[in-house]
Formats: sequence, structure tokens, C-alpha cells
Amino acid sequence: MKVLVTGCAGFIGYHVAEALLARGDSVVGLDCLNDYYDVRLKQARLERLRRQAGFAFHHLDIADKDAVRAVITGNDDIVGIVHLAAQAGVRYSLVDPYAYVHSNVMGHVVMLEAARRLGRLRHMVFASTSSVYGLNTEMPFRETDRVDTPVSLYAATKRADELMGHAYAHLFGLKLTGLRFFTVYGPWGRPDMAYFSFAKAIMAGEPITLYEEGRLRRDFTYIDDIVAGVVGALDRPPEDPCPPRLLNIGNHQVEEVRELVHLLEESLGRKAIIRSAPKPAVDVEATYAAIDAIHTLTGFTPSTPLSLGVPRFVAWFREWQAKISVG
Ligand SMILES: NC(=O)c1ccc[n+]([C@@H]2O[C@H](COP(=O)([O-])OP(=O)(O)OC[C@H]3O[C@@H](n4cnc5c(N)ncnc54)[C@H](O)[C@@H]3O)[C@@H](O)[C@H]2O)c1
Repeated sequence: MKVLVTGCAGFIGYHVAEALLARGDSVVGLDCLNDYYDVRLKQARLERLRRQAGFAFHHLDIADKDAVRAVITGNDDIVGIVHLAAQAGVRYSLVDPYAYVHSNVMGHVVMLEAARRLGRLRHMVFASTSSVYGLNTEMPFRETDRVDTPVSLYAATKRADELMGHAYAHLFGLKLTGLRFFTVYGPWGRPDMAYFSFAKAIMAGEPITLYEEGRLRRDFTYIDDIVAGVVGALDRPPEDPCPPRLLNIGNHQVEEVRELVHLLEESLGRKAIIRSAPKPAVDVEATYAAIDAIHTLTGFTPSTPLSLGVPRFVAWFREWQAKISVG
């Protein structure tokens, strides 16, 4: 089948595209390759996809409706969409809020419009986030919980994506699944996220900043588990479009951030220099996913504890750092 993957040069998009190609699907990939983080990493991911048969890439901004429409027109046999392109990261939404409205609001509407014009489309899966749970304190977070207390503009735009999805499902019968990802990490990961920036600083002998002595808790989810959940969800369109499906996709294990640091120190063979700071207002205390819904639907059973995933990330990280240091 032909699947459109937005954000295919990004961390999750790259891995999902690889998995789809590996099972014989053809993939139409979209990405604008923006410089939110090291573009060399996006280009290297893309290079690996380009070597594979069945992959076609379009360098474009998903908020550019004419450019997206042109791709859709030339690919009217697309049956699935995995929409992952977005401005990610909670802290950067304090720096450039407009980037979030551009990619996550305008870009999302463009993708919904594209989806409803694809006559053969069976299902569109799109990225939401655990951040939509905002100030909720009841753990684990469940899809049935109220989610109207976002603490970052990022979270607010992702919640808006879910709500816009509801309107499109209701109006046009579009079959949609929003996946609420919980702190995804692993090889080919994102340099702006704590696990990656900590690894870089520890290797360089530079200090890292730990909020609340590393006592914030996260449901860290390994990329291979995420990919299994994304593909499993894609393959199972909802029977009724409305209401659209929303699913948590997390590891269902909560770890303190200081445990992440400890595992990084072990794998890197170096001690971290730690500076403490209070939690910024855009960060949440804890995340913890109830995953019964995605388990029932797809059999999703995450199998990678942090103690296994961190060394795998570090093995790749060393190779990547060596590669970019020689240019
Ligand atoms: N990684 C996580 O822990 C995590 C957690 C929750 C939600 N998410 C969501 O999952 C999705 C994928 O995240 P990721 O970690 O792979 O991030 P990423 O930044 O690595 O990937 C996003 C990709 O989208 C591209 N992009 C951004 N704006 C675009 C635009 N307007 N047009 C075209 N391309 C654009 C970027 O160039 C990038 O390659 C995002 O929607 C993100 O919000 C990720």
C-alpha cells in the first residue's frame, strides 16, 4: 500500500518510514528540513530512506497548501497517512510560538484537507502528545481524562489538532487516530531532548541542568516500541469515524530523570556534572501512560525498559558524534 509520511526526516517519521518500506509498502515522504535542530541529522536520516526502493521524497512545508495539493494530485492512490511533521518541544514554544501555530495548526489543517480529498484513503494517523494532559495529576493518564489544562503552547496546539480532527471526522467521515506519544527516545533521536543533550554534555565534560534534583518523572518510550504501535494503529482504521480515536502510546513505566542520567553515565563511562534548577512552568511534574486501549486494539506491548534502551541509544550516539566530528 502507498502511505504518506509527513516529517519523514524527523526522528519518529524516519523510523516509521523505514518500517513501512521494510514490509513492502511504498512511502511518499514530506519534510521541510527546518533548522530547529542539526539539519545534518535530518539529511542523514533522509539519505538512508532515499537508498530504499519505494521511497519518494518531497521537500516542502506542510503549511503550503498548494505544494501539498500538488503531491496529493500526483498520488491519488495513497491509502494511509502518518502525519508526524510538527514543531515539537515544549520549551521552544516560549521562544518562537509562531512556529507552533504555523506547523501544528495551519499545517494540520492542510493535512486534514489533503486527507479528505484522497478518495482511496482508509486512515490517517497523526501525532499528538502526552503534554495534552497538562496539569492533570491522576495517574496513569487515560484517554478518557479531561484535557483542558495545557501548560505550553505546544500542548495547546496538539490538543487543537485533536479537536480539529473531531470536526473533520464529524463533517467528512474522515477516519482518524491521534497518538499521544510519551517521551520517545532512541537511536537517530532528537538533539533537543534531555537524553540527547545530556549525553552530549556528559561526553564534553560540560554541566547538565537537572530540574528538581532530577525528580521529575517521565514515561520514557523506546523508538522501536513506538514504531510497532504507530504501524499497528495505522493498520486498524476505526469502524466509525466519529468520535476519532485517541490513543496513549507510552512504555507504562515511570522513571525519574535522575535514573536516565545514571544510565547515561554508566553507558558513557563518565560522570555528569549536575546543576540543579527549579522546574520551568512549561514542564509537567510527571507523565505516565495507561496503555490498555492501544494494547487491546493492536496488541501493543512495549518491551524495552530504559535500562536496555539507553545503552542502545548511546551506541548509536557515539557513532553519530564520531561521524560529524570528522565532517
Ligand atoms: N519525540 C517525542 O518524544 C514526541 C513526544 C510527543 C509527541 N511527539 C510528536 O511526534 C511527532 C514527531 O516528533 P519527532 O520527535 O520525530 O520530531 P522531529 O522534530 O524529529 O520531526 C518532525 C519533522 O517534521 C518536520 N517539520 C516540522 N515542521 C514542518 C512543516 N511545517 N512542514 C514540513 N515538515 C515539517 C521537521 O523538519 C522534522 O524533520 C511530532 O508531531 C511531535 O510533536 C514527539
